[in-house]
Amino acid sequence: MTELAAVRRSFSRAANRYAASASLQRQVSDRLLDMLPPIAAGCVLDVGCGTGFASAGLRARYPDALLLSADFAPAMLGAHAPMADNARVCADAHALPLRDGSVDLIFSSLMLQWCDLSRALPECRRILRPGAPMCFATVLDGTLREIDLAFGAVDRHRHTLPFLDEPSLAALMREAGLVVDHVEQSRQVEYFDDARSLLQSNRDIGASRVPLQTRRTTLGRAAWQSVCAAFDAQRTPQGIPLTYELAWVVAHRPGNGDSG
Ligand SMILES: C[S@@+](CC[C@H](N)C(=O)[O-])C[C@H]1O[C@@H](n2cnc3c(N)ncnc32)[C@H](O)[C@@H]1O
Repeated sequence: MTELAAVRRSFSRAANRYAASASLQRQVSDRLLDMLPPIAAGCVLDVGCGTGFASAGLRARYPDALLLSADFAPAMLGAHAPMADNARVCADAHALPLRDGSVDLIFSSLMLQWCDLSRALPECRRILRPGAPMCFATVLDGTLREIDLAFGAVDRHRHTLPFLDEPSLAALMREAGLVVDHVEQSRQVEYFDDARSLLQSNRDIGASRVPLQTRRTTLGRAAWQSVCAAFDAQRTPQGIPLTYELAWVVAHRPGNGDSG
């Protein structure tokens, strides 16, 4: 199975549990909604829409727009509110089934870290109308570092994505021909009672790269105990931390007469 297919399967499997577990993701999406420009948009795309956290907020801001909610995990699209008036599209962000210059605004919350940005960002630029904005939230390096630290001593699996740093993201935006207008960064930490609930939560939002079941059977009891001890060593008075280094970006496709 390719890496992309594995990510897709992981999110499809998590779809039923996602909304209940993804409180940080909901907050990130809400903050991104607040950063959207007040424009008259004919077509708005929410790419990597998941279970549709942003649908109502996008509809409230762009009441007359065609709202396209795209995700490559069919079960995520199946979990949208049945009466929602968005058009759901099962599509991969690396190859969107949309015409050049046909979208007036792209919204994307916590999807792009799963993509090959050297393909997904030019694809966003391609479908944006010249001058149109793209607003996204993503995570940067240092995110989920507690998981890497805990597993680092016991196996050679990569347990988290190789998250980019901010200069690398900025360079990929430039290479894709997108102009960055505004970036906000902040650190958010979730706390868990124990290693098991931390890893289960990561799995419930579809973000686990090595399924917990596989992990526990292949690890063996002694290694699992080492992992738990390594998580416990990171414990604070609030519990075992899980860190997200968040970035919200407002950018646009340069238009005629735009020097960017
Ligand atoms: C962390 S969830 C975020 C979902 C939603 N935006 C939210 O804020 O709750 C990431 C979503 O991106 C989707 N995704 C990941 N890679 C994708 C790709 N290449 N094309 C389309 N969707 C993708 C996943 O299926 C998942 O629904």
